[in-house]
Amino acid sequence: MVLLHFPQNLMDRLKGWNSLQGLTVMFILLSVVSKGSACEAPSSPQCFRRHSDETVYRCEWSMNTSAIDVTYDLHFNTTDPPFKETEFEGIDQTWTTPLEEDFPIKDRAAYIWVTARRGGSSCSSPRTSVVLSRTVKYEAPQNLQVSWSESSLSLQWRAVETQPALVEVLFRRKEDITEPWQSRSLRTNTPNETLIYGVSVANLQKHSAYQVRVRQKSTKVLNPLWSDWSAVHTAPAKLELSPEVKMATREFENGTRIVMLTWKPVPHAAAVGGVTYSLTDTQSFHECPCPRKKKKKKHINTSKTEYRTYVTNSLVNITLNAFNAAGASPSANILVPAKTAKGLTTCKKLSPKKVPKKACFEWYEVEDGKVRPDTVITLRAKEHYHNITTKLKDFVPYVYFQHECVNTIPRTVEMCLFYKKEGVPRSKPQEFIASSDSHSSAGLSWKAIPSEDHQGFLTHYVVCSMKISPEHGNEECHNVSASHTQYRLEDLIPGARYNISLAGVTRVGAGPRASLIFNTMSKKSVDVWFGIGLPVVFFFISIGFTFIFKRLKHKILPPVPKPVIRDTANNQQVNQEMLEITEEVDDLTLHQLQPETKPEQTTEDLEDTAFLDGVGETDDTTDDEVEDERILEDSMTPEESCDECLSPGYKHQALMSYRDLD
Ligand SMILES: *[C@@H]1O[C@H](CO)[C@@H](O)[C@H](O)[C@H]1NC(C)=O
Ligand SMILES: *[C@@H]1O[C@H](CO)[C@@H](O)[C@H](O)[C@H]1NC(C)=O
Ligand SMILES: *[C@@H]1O[C@H](CO)[C@@H](O)[C@H](O)[C@H]1NC(C)=O
Ligand SMILES: *[C@@H]1O[C@H](CO)[C@@H](O)[C@H](O)[C@H]1NC(C)=O
Ligand SMILES: *[C@@H]1O[C@H](CO)[C@@H](O)[C@H](O)[C@H]1NC(C)=O
Ligand SMILES: *[C@@H]1O[C@H](CO)[C@@H](O)[C@H](O)[C@H]1NC(C)=O
Repeated sequence: MVLLHFPQNLMDRLKGWNSLQGLTVMFILLSVVSKGSACEAPSSPQCFRRHSDETVYRCEWSMNTSAIDVTYDLHFNTTDPPFKETEFEGIDQTWTTPLEEDFPIKDRAAYIWVTARRGGSSCSSPRTSVVLSRTVKYEAPQNLQVSWSESSLSLQWRAVETQPALVEVLFRRKEDITEPWQSRSLRTNTPNETLIYGVSVANLQKHSAYQVRVRQKSTKVLNPLWSDWSAVHTAPAKLELSPEVKMATREFENGTRIVMLTWKPVPHAAAVGGVTYSLTDTQSFHECPCPRKKKKKKHINTSKTEYRTYVTNSLVNITLNAFNAAGASPSANILVPAKTAKGLTTCKKLSPKKVPKKACFEWYEVEDGKVRPDTVITLRAKEHYHNITTKLKDFVPYVYFQHECVNTIPRTVEMCLFYKKEGVPRSKPQEFIASSDSHSSAGLSWKAIPSEDHQGFLTHYVVCSMKISPEHGNEECHNVSASHTQYRLEDLIPGARYNISLAGVTRVGAGPRASLIFNTMSKKSVDVWFGIGLPVVFFFISIGFTFIFKRLKHKILPPVPKPVIRDTANNQQVNQEMLEITEEVDDLTLHQLQPETKPEQTTEDLEDTAFLDGVGETDDTTDDEVEDERILEDSMTPEESCDECLSPGYKHQALMSYRDLD
């Protein structure tokens, strides 16, 4: 834009400008030509069209007067010969809208000015030079739409033309409106048929609310004027987070539940200009079972931060978004779980004979006793209920729901477990193990077959045992409740070998068996454990004392036989532990014990250890029997042989130690 102040040779200069630039863009401020001093001069007029295809012009000016009897004359004079004039006289407001055809000079540079007349006096505005056909002044942008994308605030409004516009944006943070306005010069997109101008103001703080004003001007004509500023528009901060929702449910006996949701209000800066919360739930979206009140309305909008609704016993997925003028928050998804499918009864039959008119049916696949949200098959009453079986899979467990709508309140009237077709379990129970705590029983435990492997209603487990050694016996089976994962097999024969198997059973039959081999303890060996206990105790005690005495350097003791030491070396680590135990035992028993038992004991220990070594390997029964008898005798008389030296607790401790060693 060129502004020329000129004193004398205006015409020459204009001609020079004209020939040079083709008189492009120009505002010329002329000195005020005042014909009288009785009135104050109006401002110089602006004449323009609202867009480049418009055939109506608008000329406007301003006048600082409160008088109502003022009239105006509007003048147009071409700046160059051949001179032409156009006048509009007697206008009684500060604007007029001449038509295109009234302007023979619209394509030439012309001076325009306005004269105000009141009574006998008149005064004129400054003159400006303008090429009317090239002057366009857009309307101020209206109905600004704002939206955030990260740190950019996008502004959109209705486009005036299909050409882009130049834009100036003023903005400041709403929290601090004493801040000066900041300004950005931008260019809009080229609008497509939707005719929307958009600019993006980058590097703003998305956590703040802003005030913005926009003005625009044409890029199509040579001499565009700025539009007026838009009204101040407030852009709330970005809604960055999904609402934080708390849920509570309450179940009623009649199959209805109430879901109560409460959520935190959005941050203050995001709430500027108002926030709306919008809720959708799968239940009403599918109109199962209650039809929507307003057919087209899929969302429920509220400005409150709580919501309560009736739901069925089925799974309901509720989505909540917050909206402000700058966009929507991410969704909060609230999954109201179905009433647990554990302990559900089996459905008696698939189809009711008469399908209730207002009912709605759902089939969900079940996994781990829970309905799988992504597997629902929904049917409303009018659809072909009886064809449902084509949609259901064989061997797959379903939870079947039948819902009804009673006075706009949904409720579940039936909920049961359902198989279209049953099979036998497809896997065996895992981690099947047996442990023994007596010679005639076995404690069995296992992991339940995962429900997706049942392929039918698991009625029970069947545990079978068969003696396979010494000679084969018959298979004996027991039914175990499907909810148990433990069983105790009684009345087994001691010292025998059993093949024990376990399988899950559905109404169709038994699935694959898990099996294990189990040896019951022989009765003898049980006694032997007690029999050998004592000598072993003595053995370790003696080692303990040997140790202590060596330390104390007493000389009254006979030398310790070497084999014992060699033996302890074999089991050094274990014996160390034993020693610790026996060492703790006492000084009390020390003196009495030593002279009597020590020499004998050590030799017997030798035999005992030999026997012990043999236990695992040899099947030489005769030797064992002899040994056993002797040991049994020993074990019969512990109190006699060493009455005071062994307390029952001590014996127990030693026995335990022996077991550990084993
Ligand atoms: C209009 O008049 C007011 C006071 O009467 C004055 O302050 C203002 O500057 C005037 N405006 C113009 C454009 O002359
Ligand atoms: C038109 O432009 C708008 C905004 O720039 C965009 O969202 C829309 O998809 C465009 N339409 C077509 C048909 O290109
Ligand atoms: C179920 O019982 C509750 C509590 O009594 C009641 O509010 C609700 O309306 C009942 N539902 C139906 C479907 O009748
Ligand atoms: C819940 O609904 C939302 C939106 O429809 C969806 O994105 C989400 O995956 C759904 N959740 C489940 C568990 O179905
Ligand atoms: C186990 O249950 C099945 C099926 O219920 C039955 O036929 C069978 O007699 C039961 N066996 C025993 C040992 O109880
Ligand atoms: C144990 O019984 C199961 C079936 O009952 C069989 O598959 C398995 O081979 C048997 N094991 C032995 C060692 O006999």
